[in-house]
Amino acid sequence: MVDRVRTDRPRRVSILGATGSIGQTTLGLLAENPAGFELVAVTAHRNVARLAEIARQFRVQFAAIGDETLLPELRSLLTGTGIVCGGGLSALSEAAAYPSDLVMAAMVGASGLVPTLTAIRRGAMVGFANKEVLVCAGHLVMAEAAKYGAKLLPVDSEHNAIFQVIQTNPTSAIERIILTASGGPFLGWSLEEMARATRAQAVRHPIWSMGDKISIDSATMMNKGLEIIEAHHLFALPEPQIEVVIHPQSVVHSLVAYCDGSVLAELGTPDMRTPIAYALAWPKRMAKGGKRLDLSRLGNLSFAPPDPVRFPALRLARAALAAGNGAATVLNAANEVAVAAFLKEAIGFNQICAIVEECLAGLSNQTITSLDDVFALDREARHRAEAEVKHWTGRASILGAVTERSQAPWLQTTALN
Ligand SMILES: NC(=O)c1ccc[n+]([C@@H]2O[C@H](COP(=O)([O-])OP(=O)(O)OC[C@H]3O[C@@H](n4cnc5c(N)ncnc54)[C@H](OP(=O)(O)O)[C@@H]3O)[C@@H](O)[C@H]2O)c1
Repeated sequence: MVDRVRTDRPRRVSILGATGSIGQTTLGLLAENPAGFELVAVTAHRNVARLAEIARQFRVQFAAIGDETLLPELRSLLTGTGIVCGGGLSALSEAAAYPSDLVMAAMVGASGLVPTLTAIRRGAMVGFANKEVLVCAGHLVMAEAAKYGAKLLPVDSEHNAIFQVIQTNPTSAIERIILTASGGPFLGWSLEEMARATRAQAVRHPIWSMGDKISIDSATMMNKGLEIIEAHHLFALPEPQIEVVIHPQSVVHSLVAYCDGSVLAELGTPDMRTPIAYALAWPKRMAKGGKRLDLSRLGNLSFAPPDPVRFPALRLARAALAAGNGAATVLNAANEVAVAAFLKEAIGFNQICAIVEECLAGLSNQTITSLDDVFALDREARHRAEAEVKHWTGRASILGAVTERSQAPWLQTTALN
């Protein structure tokens, strides 16, 4: 297990997904605190030029590119630096295994599962941004974290807020947690308007600047659905104790309600640098510049329940969580395929959730006891979702699809929040 509270040397950090939005924000904080941190290993998928730039700037020891065909280019870009290069999935895991105190898990999608587990299995602290890892294999990941003594530090602003609150209060006294949701770019749009939404409109989040996949997830509110499942695993709470409330200003990052009626929240300006800084410095805090929250200037904060008709993703995620077994693996895989298809402009916006629902209804809910089970079900769900994408490609947008209920009884059992 790594020594997580040593203060006599800079904290050694690795970043899985260093070229992405979370990766870049993390790099910014490291650059501002050169005495506090040493970046030792970085990864990317295909952005080899940026990866090489980062590797040179931070003088890392190891750089890995997920797309193995780009390894010769990475090597050539880093010639003469002494930086060791790797390519392919095994190299991503090698980066995660590289001796460091904290691994920032900032890849996107289930592709982060194997490298993140590698970090967990050496007992590292893991800054957890890559929520899909917990959605597709939460029970296995949490069991491995407990077995190897890995500390999971939530980076999603909502889960980070809850994590901060529960540090000083008994978890047994928690009545429920309340995840806030900005509502995304289509909060006030009708279903008909959403059916015609373009890629450019969907990725333009009103508050946060993020990678494409999470931006689309925020627009469908599947992001909040994934976060319900993530919270269930991180905080060991059953689905009915996890509420969602729309809060467009994204100032209250989430709340914890206790058995005595107290509700504690973490507030701040919407800035991912804050939860990332918290994870980087845990269990201490590091100073960070930037805008400070000024409540008197802010005026009103508003809260409202989510609309289950325009945003069926919440119902689907709750149903998958309540169903247990492999349902969340299917939900995640189908959503990844559908979002990728929307980003390629192959399907309409409302078809994303319709495809997820079809996959959940069409695949039997299989028991998951091993990583191989996860991989097999993930593959099966992707095939099914790809067939659904083919079915819808080129067809007129399906306005009604999102409000239809499937025939799968387990999809209809949970509340609509
Ligand atoms: N962005 C946010 O503000 C935010 C907030 C909360 C939570 N999160 C979560 O954090 C994670 C990262 O989000 P993001 O917005 O930073 O994503 P992003 O900007 O798309 O970055 C993804 C990173 O992962 C790499 N990557 C993508 N696919 C890969 C693959 N198959 N194999 C290896 N590496 C791969 C990318 O490399 P290339 O650049 O080479 O493609 C990039 O470095 C997501 O799970 C998201 O839900 C993000």
